Amino acid sequence: MDTVELEKIAKKMVTPGKGLLAADESNASCQKRFDAVHVPCTEKTRREYRGLLVTTPGAEKFLSGVIFYDETFWQATNTGQVFREYLKNHDVLPGIKVDAGLVDLPGFPGEKVTQGLDGLPERLATYRAAGARFAKWRAAIAIGDGIPTDECIGANTLSLARYARLCQDAGIVPMVEPEVLFDGNHTIEQCEQVLGHVLDTLFQTMRAFRVHLPGAILKTSMVLPGKDSGTPIDHDDVAERTIRVFREHVPEELGGIVFLSGGQTSSDAFADLNQIIQRINESGPHPWNITFSYSRALQDPVLKAWAANRNAVHQTQDIFYRQLELAASASKGELDESSLDSDGFVSHAQDL
Ligand code: G3H
Repeated sequence: MDTVELEKIAKKMVTPGKGLLAADESNASCQKRFDAVHVPCTEKTRREYRGLLVTTPGAEKFLSGVIFYDETFWQATNTGQVFREYLKNHDVLPGIKVDAGLVDLPGFPGEKVTQGLDGLPERLATYRAAGARFAKWRAAIAIGDGIPTDECIGANTLSLARYARLCQDAGIVPMVEPEVLFDGNHTIEQCEQVLGHVLDTLFQTMRAFRVHLPGAILKTSMVLPGKDSGTPIDHDDVAERTIRVFREHVPEELGGIVFLSGGQTSSDAFADLNQIIQRINESGPHPWNITFSYSRALQDPVLKAWAANRNAVHQTQDIFYRQLELAASASKGELDESSLDSDGFVSHAQDL
């Protein structure tokens, strides 16, 4: 394992003032997103849409990396330039989602486990040779009546740790994503407790499986009240609790931390990030660079605009550029939040 190279890539992924675009929706997820805006979901339309994002002029100012799904990893622009080569030429790291999705955890109603370890070393070698520098594996942890169970957390963190070690042996930085789901009517206190427990188990298991933590990135949800709890998001409270979880449950030597948006509106996802960064900077030195790795919060208004007029490529790219600019400002704690609600570029995820 080349730990120096892994640390270098991890550091680049969390370059201050930049973040990551998650464009790694599986074809099934993409189908749902495209259905919502009435665009047929085919190999051609998926390539057209992802191509628009990837080739947005100036996006590299705000992006350290882009995560692809297998199909997109091999696709090319209209002029024949493979997306990942295009990114490399713009100093943006190409990444690849390597998990094979969620399945029910037998015996544990309401809980899921992520599959995809079979054949993973061979797939990682192929992706690395083709230019992938980091990978992603997502586990989903639901909060509800009697869940998550320790068995669900254990099964998922075991897979995350094994995946992470396999990535590092292949020269790829693992992004480990134990997403605590926003769905549900749980309280913010429950979310804080569950996220802390999940992270403790995750890092204990990663250490046991000899993962080099400075060469790994955590992709995490924020501490939020459940989407159906009826409790509005209080950005200040989210920031305080999320930072407390990091300080108490994330090892200092970890390579960095990035957030998913998890179904929050763009406004909430940007404002939460802004407050987290402001507050952690004010609270003294901290060991990790922290930024965004959003899918929906960056893409929702872009997808809507593209669906409304697929020929208006430049106007749609302007919207994406603006979303990136807002997210990048938030990642520095420099976002002017008063611009968010009235800003037409920031729309609501549930509208899609
Ligand atoms: O795995 C989750 C995605 O990479 C992030 O998606 O920002 O829409 O939650 P999201």
